[in-house]
Amino acid sequence: MRTWIKSLRPFETHTDVREAERFIRLFHAENPGGGVNARLRDVAREIARRGTYTHTGEELEFGARVAWRNSNRCIGRLYWKSLKVRDRRDVTGAEGVAVECVAHLREATGDGRIRPVITVFPPDAPGRPAPRVLNEQLIRYAGYRRADGSVAGDPRYVAFTALARELGWRGGGGRFDVLPLIVDPGTGGGPLLGNLPGDAVLEVPIAHPEFAWFAELGLRWHAVPAISNLCLEIGGVCYPCAPFNGWYMGAEIGARNLADADRYDQLPVVAARLGLDTSTERSLWRDHALVELNVAVLHSFAAAGVTMTDHHTESSRFLTHLAREEKAGRTCPADWSWIVPPISGGVTPVFHRYYDNPTLTPNFVPRH
Ligand code: ARG
Repeated sequence: MRTWIKSLRPFETHTDVREAERFIRLFHAENPGGGVNARLRDVAREIARRGTYTHTGEELEFGARVAWRNSNRCIGRLYWKSLKVRDRRDVTGAEGVAVECVAHLREATGDGRIRPVITVFPPDAPGRPAPRVLNEQLIRYAGYRRADGSVAGDPRYVAFTALARELGWRGGGGRFDVLPLIVDPGTGGGPLLGNLPGDAVLEVPIAHPEFAWFAELGLRWHAVPAISNLCLEIGGVCYPCAPFNGWYMGAEIGARNLADADRYDQLPVVAARLGLDTSTERSLWRDHALVELNVAVLHSFAAAGVTMTDHHTESSRFLTHLAREEKAGRTCPADWSWIVPPISGGVTPVFHRYYDNPTLTPNFVPRH
């Protein structure tokens, strides 16, 4: 049996009517005007008849935005109302999903002015599982395990890369090879492999504003982070395929993807080029290298005209968001360990306080 079979799942698609009711009431409380009681009656009737119900376009749009608003790990929620929702619940086949993911990337990327976008594909229907993307994000780089145990590319995706190759993908063995989409059609057939066309994947080469040698490191990163393996849960309905994106905060790349020892592990490389004393931790060579790497990432995205925020700006925006939510009479759930940036935590204002952290729905949840 092939590895991808692991993604097949039992289908418990019956919708909890109380979850549905809570969502419909929330929708009407925040979008006054419609008849909440008539809608509640219809929803209850539909669930009784076929085990689930269909959201209106407005409910779906609101639900997706509130799922972002409730994402306790996200520091960038100030603009939750601006999320563009692409309702693609009419797409059926795996090809259709792949095509729409590419369209999503084009729309989200534009000419570098990144827009937060979500594409919502159909939920599982009783007895009829819907397609889903197996990739963690729409754009990620392959990782190839070499004979000596080291990795070319992103070590995080070694297993996924092996799966893609098993399915027939020809990876070039480079450090920044964009992985193909793997779409499970849901119907029991084999998975579909879909290459992302080059013009749908904007990338930024990383250079430093002062150190010319930095470009020689050959680092780059993709412009759009688009998470594709979480379920969008709205009112008891789970949309297993609902890729969404925002824009990057520099530190995600500069202090994690390119810096983590189990990712691209570039701090020793940068430190060596800077001529730092790496024989002792007390020289703070890691910290020096980390700052220059982050300067390079922010500089490069700006130079390429690609939207990116920095962790200082984003931290103060988050506190603005928090204040706004409080003023609206809502709790803003936040997980301190995710909200505090991975660089210079203590010099950002989000460090110096604690947060409420209830689990609220709608939300994005791991698939089961
Ligand atoms: N940290 C993840 C990455 O580096 C992306 C998570 C979502 N980030 C965002 N800015 N919306 O790829």
